[in-house]
Amino acid sequence: MSDREPIGVVGIGWVGLVTAACFAELGSDVVALDILTDKVEALRRGEAPFYEPGMAELLERNRDRLHFTTDMSELLEGRRLLFCCVDTPPTYSGDADLSRVDAVVSGLSGSSEHALVMKSTVPAGTGAAICRRAPELSYVSCPEFLKEGTAVQDFMHPDRVVIGADAGDEGAADALEALYAPLGGELVRTDVSSAEMIKLAANAFLATKISFINEIANVCEEVGADVTEVARGMGLDKRIGSSFLRAGIGYGGSCFPKDVSALKQLAGNTGYHFQLLNSVIEVNELQKRRVIGKLVKHLDTLVGKRIALLGLSFKPDTDDMREASSLVLAARLQGEGAEVVAYDPVSEDRASELLPAVTLADSAVEAMAGADAAVLVTEWPEFGELEWAEVAKQMASPVLVDGRNFLDPKTLRDAGFTYESIGRPTATPSS
Ligand code: UDX
Repeated sequence: MSDREPIGVVGIGWVGLVTAACFAELGSDVVALDILTDKVEALRRGEAPFYEPGMAELLERNRDRLHFTTDMSELLEGRRLLFCCVDTPPTYSGDADLSRVDAVVSGLSGSSEHALVMKSTVPAGTGAAICRRAPELSYVSCPEFLKEGTAVQDFMHPDRVVIGADAGDEGAADALEALYAPLGGELVRTDVSSAEMIKLAANAFLATKISFINEIANVCEEVGADVTEVARGMGLDKRIGSSFLRAGIGYGGSCFPKDVSALKQLAGNTGYHFQLLNSVIEVNELQKRRVIGKLVKHLDTLVGKRIALLGLSFKPDTDDMREASSLVLAARLQGEGAEVVAYDPVSEDRASELLPAVTLADSAVEAMAGADAAVLVTEWPEFGELEWAEVAKQMASPVLVDGRNFLDPKTLRDAGFTYESIGRPTATPSS
């Protein structure tokens, strides 16, 4: 029997399942709850509801310590720390929708035996409001910094662990600290509001870095510079750092778009106008559209043209298409009168739901055969392995817009392509 504290997890989305499976791997007995019976039954059979590298192995290896339920009483029995991992999607106004968090708190209010550990991203001030509403409950903020596609690795090797607790809840915070102790990483023990702000500020800063380099890329195109060289030269300054300086067609996913608008809204609700974040959001929206201009430059018009999209997920190694650039791009291409055919190695099921008017191909080569142009939307490694000279022969016109600066311009040019990327000089077969 492990001496690790048993835990409960509420909400088996991506954060909830990674948290549950990783703490089970570390030796805790874990009960994870979701209201969706089908999801719970699939998990009991060992099936993960999404694709995440390493997850299937974790579920298999920890079957004995990992239990899935729809029954709240099973979750509460003998467990002090309950991780709240429910979704907090943005509302139309940009505020975070906290209805699922509220339901969890309602289920626990009156309990002095339990501590709610907030993993869901919530606006600063949420913890204080919950403590006023359910004063007997212990409350700890422990924001999530996992990246999709490397979540298991990120969990097991965190840069830092942030634990925010206010007076009276130190016991629960100590217990949480003990759970995370074997993982190493800097520990930031702070108050609840600061912990909440750390999460929003970190994601907003990373999004700002991306929009900044995207604007630099747009200027590089005008002055004939290469943004990858510029980013390399900038990033070697330790104060800047080289990560999150990859120019492209914008950030997507379940966190950055949501957290940036939540922080902007949170500031707005206090009467503070967060100017910088408005621009970060606007640049990100405009960046997705630049591909259209690049295609028109080479094809004159998109009416009746067949355009292949390579990759649909918001980044590689995930089937997640939330806020993916592919969604905006497909809609705009169709709006301009183009026929869109797409290929993604793992997102086919989600794509058939979200992009019903897009033809889905079984391979990148099949998507590009007969196409007037292709757009690389997601940098899946397999796109680096294609025989581009063969692909060029199969296209109606070999034009490729690389929205992630993933391919080598010279290789594409030698293969006969007119190759455009983001913030790098255009390569044409004659150049
Ligand atoms: C992000 C945060 O990194 C993570 O800490 C937080 O917990 C959740 O949000 P994630 O959404 O999984 O993680 O993806 P991430 O790898 O950070 O990429 C987000 C988006 O930014 C992707 O669309 C990616 O293509 C884009 N990106 C990233 C760039 O365009 N340029 C870069 O340099 C880096």
